Amino acid sequence: MCGIVGYVGNDNSLDVLLGGLKRLEYRGYDSAGVAVLDPHGTLHTRKRAGKLKVLVDDLATTPIASGSTGIGHTRWATHGGPTDGNAHPHLGDGGRLALIHNGIIENYAPLKQELLDAGDTFESETDTEVAALLVGRAYRETGDLTEALRHVAGRLEGAFTLLAVHADQPGVVVGARRNSPLVIGLGDGENFLGSDVAAFVEFTRRAVAIGQDQLVTIRPDSVEVIDFAGNPVETSEFEVAWDASASEKGGWSSFMAKEISEEPEAVANTLLGRTEDGVVVLPELEPLGDALLRDIDRIIVIACGTAAYAGMLGKYAIESWARIPVDVELSHEFRYRDPVLSDRTLVVSVSQSGETMDTLMAVQYARQQGAKVLSICNTQGSSIPRESDAVVYTHAGPEVAVASTKAFVAQVTALYLLGLHLALVRGTQDRARLQKLTGELHDVPAKLSKVLEASAGIPQLARWMTDTQSVLFLGRHVGYPVALEGALKLKELAYIHSEGFAAGELKHGPIALIEPGQIVFVIVPSPRDPKSLHPKVISNIQEIKARGARVVAIAEQGDVDAIQHADEVIPIPLASPLFEPLLAVVPLHVFGMELASAKGLDVDQPRNLAKSVTVE
Ligand code: AGP
Ligand code: GLU
Repeated sequence: MCGIVGYVGNDNSLDVLLGGLKRLEYRGYDSAGVAVLDPHGTLHTRKRAGKLKVLVDDLATTPIASGSTGIGHTRWATHGGPTDGNAHPHLGDGGRLALIHNGIIENYAPLKQELLDAGDTFESETDTEVAALLVGRAYRETGDLTEALRHVAGRLEGAFTLLAVHADQPGVVVGARRNSPLVIGLGDGENFLGSDVAAFVEFTRRAVAIGQDQLVTIRPDSVEVIDFAGNPVETSEFEVAWDASASEKGGWSSFMAKEISEEPEAVANTLLGRTEDGVVVLPELEPLGDALLRDIDRIIVIACGTAAYAGMLGKYAIESWARIPVDVELSHEFRYRDPVLSDRTLVVSVSQSGETMDTLMAVQYARQQGAKVLSICNTQGSSIPRESDAVVYTHAGPEVAVASTKAFVAQVTALYLLGLHLALVRGTQDRARLQKLTGELHDVPAKLSKVLEASAGIPQLARWMTDTQSVLFLGRHVGYPVALEGALKLKELAYIHSEGFAAGELKHGPIALIEPGQIVFVIVPSPRDPKSLHPKVISNIQEIKARGARVVAIAEQGDVDAIQHADEVIPIPLASPLFEPLLAVVPLHVFGMELASAKGLDVDQPRNLAKSVTVE
């Protein structure tokens, strides 16, 4: 839920920490802090509530020493409000040790009582300070920071990434992780730790993921990884697939604008290398084996938020192409409803960050129940893929804006690839049909570019709606998940109460919401498909128009019925039904962003939200 950076190497640790935190700020941002060791072994700390800029400005006004060793943190509070005192780092061993933490220490209360009984006092309300004081005490016994952290990490329950430094050990940063992210950046005479690779990608693209219940000790010329029992651990290095510039705005007004512009590329890159002789191949599924893929009799997709809506679109495609029943469940509901799973159930998790705690816990639960887990994820080295039997990475590149856009279309693409691969393995579609469907999928990036070009009128539409208090979204069949996604974007970006409905549900109650001036977006299916639901959706538009609604239709270019009945029409290129959602969603992403901008809101970091929700 926050950004964490660690550094050992040259004497510019403070600059490295602040630069890394800047690129991690989207992970959580209600306070920030740093701790650095100067060459004399003196520990200097500074921490401030508010966004990272508050800390940076404070350090500019009142500098602290830099040095070769340091840790930095941006916080998304779970225990104790966003105050200077609750910001990290927290101190132990009489102020000679500094520690930062991502996650929640679920058993902090009894541990806090143990420390209070031993005479310790607390400066903060956080769970984190308990770990700082415990590691400080353990250090006094062991005289070694790695041992001290290892001793304490084994006592903690919940989710944590911990980094610590001690005044006695300049040139050493120690980290530990359980159910929370931590990756190593390998430099030349310097080494890095971060919540994700964005923390250090401007310095090195050589990275190592740290596994569950493992500790890492970095020095300028060495990296050692052990498990919580103290045994050395084999690690594998990977190269970060994008560079530092990709995580900057690149001239765009916001990360969100940049990432919407990248939606065509996100789909194209996710398709790369996954088609042979015109049909989809997914070598990443080899760990599951074709026999299992032929034998499964049920798929359950687990995800949260936007990722769940991607899962809903995947359901239509996988059921249509591979003829396997697919259920889509919210991770946090699935985890606690005692679901019936078997070894013929394939659980598919969808997560951009790979760190959503609700989904991580659901994945761990599914595997404990004997199901195989395939993860679709956009973040290399993150926790959920490491807890899965197989992973299909989307290649959307870093998604920094909290509101997900390009990751959504990449997730849908990956789910469609899965559906086509399953259809091939299970023989439910002939080769010619698979080649046709695969060709349509490959046509999507070019069509998305056309959608973006045709979205030029949306900013004006958004400016006209800045006083809107409520917006409804209607869609049928694959248009329904698009309606839900459009509504979520307006909630999280423009802070407007908005709701997505299955258009057929309107007459069963929601139509009571329609009054003169009510704005309703309607996703209109193509009129060209003989089985199309187009006539029914046009009837829905007439029903709400009759009650005074103002209708904005997302419709295929040239749809004369939509043009006749809607007040505004946003055109999208022709596509067959299952591919239309990938096009129809983009104007809704643009609209959410433009309306938030028109209201003067921060489109990249909306209030109350964090990019990766790493608490349950
Ligand atoms: C999307 O715009 C939201 N920020 C949120 O619903 C997000 O999709 C959800 O938290 C899941 O995140 P994940 O894909 O990283 O697991
Ligand atoms: N639970 C810790 C706190 O509330 C860490 C939260 C975070 O991940 O930023 O300070």
